[in-house]
Amino acid sequence: MTKIRAAITGVHGYVPDYVLTNHELETMVDTNDEWIRSRTGIEERRILKGEGQGTSVIGAEAVKGLLAKTNTKAEEVDLIICATVTPDMPFPATANIIADMVGAKNAFGYDLSAACSGFLYALATGAQFIQSGTYKKVVIIGADKMSSIIDYTDRATCIIFGDGGGAVMLEPTEEDLGVMDSILKSDGSGAPYLHMKAGGSRKPATVETVAQREHFAFQEGSTVFKFAVTNMADVAAEVMEKNNLTSNDISWLVPHQANKRIIDATARRMGVGDDKVMLNIQRYGNTTAGTLPLCLWDYEPQLKKGDNIILAAFGGGFTWGATWLKWAYDPK
Ligand code: UT7
Repeated sequence: MTKIRAAITGVHGYVPDYVLTNHELETMVDTNDEWIRSRTGIEERRILKGEGQGTSVIGAEAVKGLLAKTNTKAEEVDLIICATVTPDMPFPATANIIADMVGAKNAFGYDLSAACSGFLYALATGAQFIQSGTYKKVVIIGADKMSSIIDYTDRATCIIFGDGGGAVMLEPTEEDLGVMDSILKSDGSGAPYLHMKAGGSRKPATVETVAQREHFAFQEGSTVFKFAVTNMADVAAEVMEKNNLTSNDISWLVPHQANKRIIDATARRMGVGDDKVMLNIQRYGNTTAGTLPLCLWDYEPQLKKGDNIILAAFGGGFTWGATWLKWAYDPK
């Protein structure tokens, strides 16, 4: 029997209009443009402004563009998976809200929480539904409104994160293309270094938790940095070795956009030159689950059918992983 693979047949992204520059951050916390650029590579990030605007706005805009590009009617979508750590509400799932916003009446949907690795986890999950022959059109979203959980008095986190996201369409193919392999990992002992203290079942919201600023993302940056540099590079190399891929076979590295120095280390470990590394951290910062689809969206015009692409991520959890993808279409 011919093997069915899950091919990405389209990608679309969305970032809000408001640009928060390093210079504006200088007016908010004790930081400076030179420090942010040299330590992270970030120059500006986008912020979703306006009351009642949640992550679903980002996801729905990305999906609307995706449906138009792939000539898909909303009713044809079978499943929507939304990777996010900033859902509109703890429940219902943001994927359901997005399905309603775009008119995907026949789709079921759910959210997936794996922080910065969320898009990779969701891609692997969605691919299983295609490969098994269960569904024909699966939409994978990675989106976060990080500004909703960022403390803009904390210079250790507020300079890094931004809002944005993207979506891809997964469809079956009998060609040797699409999601080829994934190695996904997690280690819950990393939780103390990157988490949000309150608002969950362990520590529900109280007047005190709000006063103590416990509803914001907390990160021990240098510890996370050390784990990220090693693990993201190792898992990217592992997926290459497992599949007998050398750096010459790789057309693109798509790294999670958390810090330019982590990206450089991963590329070096893989033996991949800078010209093959997707990079947009300077414009969007770290959009958590949004970074990988935003990279694919930005670079889509340069991607060719058959290109070997390695996606790699590391984030809260800890979670990390790498996926080998063969791009399924030429620029349109
Ligand atoms: O996406 C999810 C996973 N997250 C990541 O992968 C992020 C990983 N971590 C990082 O990217 C980096 O650790 C940061 C960018 C967050 C911080 O960079 P760093 O080089 O690790 O800085 P540090 O925390 O070790 O701090 C170095 C110095 C300290 O000053 P002293 O003690 O040396 O005098 C900090 O107080 O830089 C100071 N500092 C700042 N200075 C200006 C920390 N934040 C800032 C700031 N502006 N925003």
